[in-house]
Amino acid sequence: MPKRVLTNSDLEQMVETSDEWITTRTGIRERRIAGKDEKTSDMAIRAAREALKNARLDPAKVELIVVATISPDSGFPSVACLVQKAVHAPHAAAFDVSAACSGFLYALTTAKQFLQTGLYNNALVVAAEKITSYVNWNDRNTCVLFGDGAGACVLKPVAGRRGVLADYLHAQGHFGDLMMVLAGEREPLDQETRMILLPHIAMQGQELFRVAVNSMAEAVEIVVKKAGLKFEDIDYIVPHQANDRIISAVARKLDFPKEKIFINIDRYGNMSAASIAVALYEAVEQKKIKRGDNVVLVTFGAGLVSAANVVRW
Ligand code: ACO
Repeated sequence: MPKRVLTNSDLEQMVETSDEWITTRTGIRERRIAGKDEKTSDMAIRAAREALKNARLDPAKVELIVVATISPDSGFPSVACLVQKAVHAPHAAAFDVSAACSGFLYALTTAKQFLQTGLYNNALVVAAEKITSYVNWNDRNTCVLFGDGAGACVLKPVAGRRGVLADYLHAQGHFGDLMMVLAGEREPLDQETRMILLPHIAMQGQELFRVAVNSMAEAVEIVVKKAGLKFEDIDYIVPHQANDRIISAVARKLDFPKEKIFINIDRYGNMSAASIAVALYEAVEQKKIKRGDNVVLVTFGAGLVSAANVVRW
């Protein structure tokens, strides 16, 4: 995570908003913001190094690197190639996946296929976003929602009925205009610079909220069925962290106890692709997920794209 913390009270100084509005409408209290010179690849590389260390995988033996991001350092080289260079993984294939907030699960499922077919024996999957580089700090509808960060994992084939049991990837391109990046004027975060022409996020929040709840609930139902499990078999859900009220509405729709759903949106806001990677990391660190648990990962994002996986930990 980047070091800089932007709190709701900091935002009160920037736009007409309040800590109370942001907390009750979204559940977010603070978010991390990457420094001016801190790029998406810098966060991706830090996460990748930690994942490789935890997996005790020698970088020289990494065969595939997939990075989920919609905020790459530039059009090319891909963030995956920057990670490959930095971690010294000369034998790996490397590419980026663009699926907005569903990026980590799209990347996970993509990498899993390569392992299943036997083409590769391991994969480093990273999700990293400097999504605040698209935020218009003058737009209170969107600037309170997002934060930067990165997470990563290493995949290897496992014997028996463990690991990623089922996948669900879906897209609804006809909802694309509910959230998009537009070119135009936006206010930079540090006010010493004047208004500049930059791409920025435009969003229809209420409609997106409705579609998000339906898409996530549907994704969970489908993926649990695909895994050959019953709903009662699910021990824990790690959802995309876009809005605490979205998560509550999905829990109600599925009649699933909210205590068994991981939430860290209060500290990070919406980190797009990185949200689930970071949430999964923290859920494991906090021992919310134990070996043998059936865990559902579920997300939706701009596109619109939704995705879910069942993982037996
Ligand atoms: N502070 C104070 N007031 C605000 C703020 C703010 N930061 N933002 C909006 N308001 C105002 C609006 O202007 C509006 O005022 P009005 O009634 O005078 O017109 C009022 O609050 C209510 O606005 P709504 O849009 O109806 O608020 P809502 O309860 O729907 O909450 C929110 C807005 C938080 C954006 C919600 O709709 C939401 O979370 N939507 C989904 C967003 C999302 O998930 N985005 C990312 C998905 S894709 C991806 O992750 C890449």
